[in-house]
Amino acid sequence: MDIVTTFDEVRAARRGVVGLVPTMGYLHEGHLSLMRAARDATDTVVTSVFVNPLQFGEGEDLDRYPRDLERDAELATGAGVDVLFVPTVEEMYSAEPVVRVTVGYLADHLCGAFRPGHFEGVATVVAKLFAGVQPDLAFFGRKDAQQLVVLERLAMDLSFPVRVIGCPIVREADGVAMSSRNVYLSSGQRVSARALSLGLERAVDAVTAGERSAPALVDLARAECASTSGVDVQYVEMVDAVGLQPIETLDKDAILAIAAFVGTTRLIDNAHFWIEGNQVRSELGGA
Ligand code: PAJ
Repeated sequence: MDIVTTFDEVRAARRGVVGLVPTMGYLHEGHLSLMRAARDATDTVVTSVFVNPLQFGEGEDLDRYPRDLERDAELATGAGVDVLFVPTVEEMYSAEPVVRVTVGYLADHLCGAFRPGHFEGVATVVAKLFAGVQPDLAFFGRKDAQQLVVLERLAMDLSFPVRVIGCPIVREADGVAMSSRNVYLSSGQRVSARALSLGLERAVDAVTAGERSAPALVDLARAECASTSGVDVQYVEMVDAVGLQPIETLDKDAILAIAAFVGTTRLIDNAHFWIEGNQVRSELGGA
């Protein structure tokens, strides 16, 4: 695996079909699952590690975001990555970017409502990665459901010749969604964090049993969090999977999403629902 720091070096390493896996590093199985999916589908797998200042708000965790490049390089090698792209802030933003990508109503709900400018920052850095790396395929996790929808629209609306591929959420054995931010949790908080996936599991079970009312499903997920000490819900929302607008009835592809603080750590999780004929297929992801 080559470790490079400039877009020129990445482009010089391209062979055949190129897959890109953008990350902020501190890699875990969730990230590695994307690299393996890229490995299976492409000739050259490029993974970027860049903690993007543009997507962090005032008072968020930019300064303490966990970093360990040596470990990341080992894990990426093991997952079959060909090129690890680790740009400096200067390589990515030689000047404060004036021209940026806006995401409109896609940021009105879910995390967008609580993290002003976040998705503009994500869309802008990923647009730069698409333009600078020129991948044929790009892989993102459904863990960040709103981000994935935004990036699908980024590729479509700005005509980037890249296919955006969504991959399932990878979870710890107890159901907690893997996240670089889980290292912030104390052991007690780590137990409380189970409430998010347990709440989603309750909702998925209810859907299997025939429940189609979005407010009822939201209430089920919220109740699990509300009854767990140390979990402070920011939102539980059910939105359609295309426009990310709230729905009343599960009669179209949809996402049930949660954000909650456990101590000072903000966690997100979600379940996806796809309408297939008169059935609903649920996806929570797993180990
Ligand atoms: P980061 O949080 O490092 O995540 C990188 C990719 O890994 C994203 O596509 C995310 O959805 C995916 N991922 C994270 N945890 C996952 C899990 N448990 N299961 C499956 N996939 C998971 O998301 C970002 O970085 C940044 O916003 C980025 C897209 C790199 C732009 O800066």
